Amino acid sequence: MKMQEKHIGASMNRVDGHQKVTGAAKYSAEYELPGMSYGVLVGSTIAKGRITGLDTKAAERAPGVLAVVTHLNSPKVPGFKPVGKDPSQPATTGGPLKVFSDNEIRFNDQPIALVVADTLERAKHAARLVRAQYAKEAHQTDMKAAAKDAFLPTSAQKNPKSPMADYQRGAADALQKASLKIEQEYVIPTEMHSPMEMQSITAHWEAPDRLTLYDKTQGTIGTRRDFAREWNLPEENVKVIATFVGGAFGNALHSWPHESAAIIGAKVVNRPLKLMLTREQMFTSVGYRPYTWQKLAMSATPDGKITAISHESIGQTSTYEEFTESTLAQTRMMYQAPSLSTRYRIAALNVGTPIWMRGPGEATGAFALESAMDEMAHLLKLDPLEFRLRNYTDQDPERNRPWSTKYLKECYQMGAERIGWSQRKLEPGAVREGDWLIGYGMGVGTFGAHRGSAHVSAQLLPDGTAVLQCATTDIGPGTGTAMTQIAADALGLPPEKIRFELGQASFPQSGSQGGSSTVNTVGQAVQDACLALKDKLRELAGAGNPAFASAKKEDVALASGYLTLGSNAAARVPLADLTKQPGAALVNVESKPTGNDGQQYSMYSFSVHFAQVAVHVLTGEVRVRKLVSGADAGTIINQKTAANQMKGGAVGGIGMALMEHAVIDDRYGRYVTKDFADYHVPVQADAPAVEVFFVNQPDYHVNALGTKGIGEIATIGVAPAIANAVFNATGKRVRELPITPDKLV
Ligand code: MOS
Repeated sequence: MKMQEKHIGASMNRVDGHQKVTGAAKYSAEYELPGMSYGVLVGSTIAKGRITGLDTKAAERAPGVLAVVTHLNSPKVPGFKPVGKDPSQPATTGGPLKVFSDNEIRFNDQPIALVVADTLERAKHAARLVRAQYAKEAHQTDMKAAAKDAFLPTSAQKNPKSPMADYQRGAADALQKASLKIEQEYVIPTEMHSPMEMQSITAHWEAPDRLTLYDKTQGTIGTRRDFAREWNLPEENVKVIATFVGGAFGNALHSWPHESAAIIGAKVVNRPLKLMLTREQMFTSVGYRPYTWQKLAMSATPDGKITAISHESIGQTSTYEEFTESTLAQTRMMYQAPSLSTRYRIAALNVGTPIWMRGPGEATGAFALESAMDEMAHLLKLDPLEFRLRNYTDQDPERNRPWSTKYLKECYQMGAERIGWSQRKLEPGAVREGDWLIGYGMGVGTFGAHRGSAHVSAQLLPDGTAVLQCATTDIGPGTGTAMTQIAADALGLPPEKIRFELGQASFPQSGSQGGSSTVNTVGQAVQDACLALKDKLRELAGAGNPAFASAKKEDVALASGYLTLGSNAAARVPLADLTKQPGAALVNVESKPTGNDGQQYSMYSFSVHFAQVAVHVLTGEVRVRKLVSGADAGTIINQKTAANQMKGGAVGGIGMALMEHAVIDDRYGRYVTKDFADYHVPVQADAPAVEVFFVNQPDYHVNALGTKGIGEIATIGVAPAIANAVFNATGKRVRELPITPDKLV
């Protein structure tokens, strides 16, 4: 028998690559419907207060205008519960923004009107004619001032076991008593996700109680649930379609005011309505990585054993939602530290609500932790890699249980070789090439290997194609491609014979694409569904062929149009016979989250990033000359798309380290960075060739494929690697990102 070709692990090209580069792929703003109308949002120009007057007359009279929706005339949205009376919302806030439901302003550029017209240009023009008067109140957008009012998130107040609750192990006074210690403050500014595709939605009421949304979202099921609730509709009456998503990095993990507004607008004009945010609105309306202040203290023995760590963090949130993230999680489990405490707080500002941004929490926390590791190593006159090895953990020190798998040591070694770590000098500022100082730095990342539940259907069609469906989205990593590879191996069909359909809430249910969990979760469901389909085919064949009726599952194979048995060459049934009845060869399978293994083992992906930088002695310019990023992410399904993910995360880390900084003018409470001229992200010239490697060892505690997830660890630890390299080059320690030239000259 011919050996089955293995597709898992191959560098397969993207199944939708052709559609994407030819423009055939349709994103949410690219659907054309008969009678389309176009919505443009008018935003508030104050950050806090009340609207006292709204003049919409000129806008209403402008050519082509169909409606101007405001809090004065908006239809009641039945699911908008009165503020403070919604039990699902935290007690201290009013819950998610209920657009056009009152005259209160909670952040600058909050939608105050939606202008709907028959063309986009006419809607844009009319939107400029809306005039508002306000009763202004004093706002607070400055985290440095708001930090004194920071509070423990409600979730942690209610549940002391919440990961946001205060944590302590070992001796509470260990740091006080230590003689060899450091204590520093670290700050990361607000950063914006800045995906290529801007948030957009096309809302279409197909009937008074049936709604279709072409929406940019990372979770079709979550979006369907949110808007079914807002309109008191059965979920099956709401269709959500997100076949292609042009990057998101987390900002499509939440339902936002513009989506509610578009749905209201479509209701008012009784036509499909298309609304796309402007790039400027992307800076005010769809979340961001929150400004975060951290303080980290660490003590160690002279021979480089950490004795204690304390890590505090205050992140920003809005006044109407409590956003939290796991900023301190990596600190609790990464290094052996017998005494350790963490303390997480949030402070509410008059800004829009933050949302998870790639490596949410951990990327912020790792900047402090991995910088502090470098500072401590310097104090101890130890190589920072050696210092990390001396504090390596062979089991989870937070939960006192084994890792499911951990190959971080292997990553250290492989990465150190590739960057040329042996050339690093212990003393900073020791290597100079002309006007450039050269330095090396490293940073470590981790993220939970999460696996949830997902449903996948699999059907064999009469032409021999297997069609799989799942509601998951693909925001860019290549989910459809990876799933095709998994299905090809599980079914024994060539990838051309597999069609994986995703991005619709009407497909079998899955969670949002987030938290590096899609391959772990949906990948397993795909494998399960394919194996179930094969068994279904065996059962169908068994009806007329006793050899199949008694055959073992594993013995069954699909080969050149036949169902065959490995143990019995004579037994074969044409697949066409089994697929004659429509829907005969169809299964729908649910794959459950990791059960017992999740209780017995701590499951994490790990990464290490090594940077070589050159810093110009006169201008303070930092060039990242080389980045090596390595991951222990379990089985790699597709070498090429996985490496793409790692490179993208590394480039995001360069942005975090050197450029990204959303600036608010606190006098007005409004972002002054509102486009890519002011808000810098790395371009090609800012990014070196990133060398990526994988340990590629399966973790079968997570799932039968052995995957652990890549999305977050690709960026977690990159920024401190660069900051540490800058220190090694110059002797200057920058603890507030980004490391702009002014901080170095
Ligand atoms: Mo990601 S922050 O889980 O999209």
